[in-house]
Amino acid sequence: MDNLLTDRIALVTGGASGIGRACAFALAEEGASIAVCDCDESLGRAVVDEIQSLGGDAMFSATDVASVNSVNSSIDEIMARYGRIDCAFNNAGVAGDDRFIADTTDAEWNKIIGINLTGVWSFLRREIQEMLPRGGGAIVNTASVAGLVGWRGGAAYSATKHAVVGLTKSAALEYARHNIRVNAVCPGVIETPMAATLQKDTGGLRERLLRKHPQRRFGQAEEIAEAVVWLFSDRSSFTNGHTLTIDGGYTAR
Ligand SMILES: NC(=O)c1ccc[n+]([C@@H]2O[C@H](COP(=O)([O-])OP(=O)(O)OC[C@H]3O[C@@H](n4cnc5c(N)ncnc54)[C@H](O)[C@@H]3O)[C@@H](O)[C@H]2O)c1
Repeated sequence: MDNLLTDRIALVTGGASGIGRACAFALAEEGASIAVCDCDESLGRAVVDEIQSLGGDAMFSATDVASVNSVNSSIDEIMARYGRIDCAFNNAGVAGDDRFIADTTDAEWNKIIGINLTGVWSFLRREIQEMLPRGGGAIVNTASVAGLVGWRGGAAYSATKHAVVGLTKSAALEYARHNIRVNAVCPGVIETPMAATLQKDTGGLRERLLRKHPQRRFGQAEEIAEAVVWLFSDRSSFTNGHTLTIDGGYTAR
């Protein structure tokens, strides 16, 4: 532990599970106070309890990232408790069904856009509004390798993740002069509950996806958390508008 984030306030959406959960612990270990925002109240509160039992400081805010009102309430709650937001990890997301475009319903499209894109947009806007008068901050958005290349059977998901990359770069351009850095992480397949179906897969999908990762394994949530800690810390002070792939070589071809 280097205490890279002592006394900073860090918001983590999707902090109840998987990548967000691992990040919440990693950020707390570096000295940050954590606001876990998630729609899963029992898992989210469990993360907060565990951080507190390890001597850290954390709060939970129930949020549906797809609802602007819910996002605004959560930011208000965090501001009331901590008075500022220094680091924000906009990470909550869903994978959607494995379906080709012609078989995708409007409801499925709207659900994925609402959570993966509007959810990032709504948090990003409020975070910037809160950071601007307080001298700046650092924001990391979770995109995906599917934000850099197409995803067969996941066009809606891939579209949202490409959009998150665009939001990240545009926000970095707009607010660099205000001391707000905005970056994105683009994970390959990571062994979290979102990817749990792959563990049980017997139809060859798991093998096909493994072959796409030159390191011949999937990633761990902690490997993403390492990068997020660095992107929030002063050690990455000149890194801005960057999309950091953490994918075992998936997109190197
Ligand atoms: N696991 C992977 O292979 C992988 C790869 C690339 C990118 N990602 C991205 O990483 C992010 C985290 O995924 P994960 O693998 O940790 O999945 P996960 O399912 O373990 O965690 C996602 C979290 O988001 C929360 N969430 C979902 N919908 C929400 C909503 N409407 N409001 C608030 N919270 C909501 C869930 O409750 C959960 O806690 C997602 O954006 C995902 O697209 C995951």
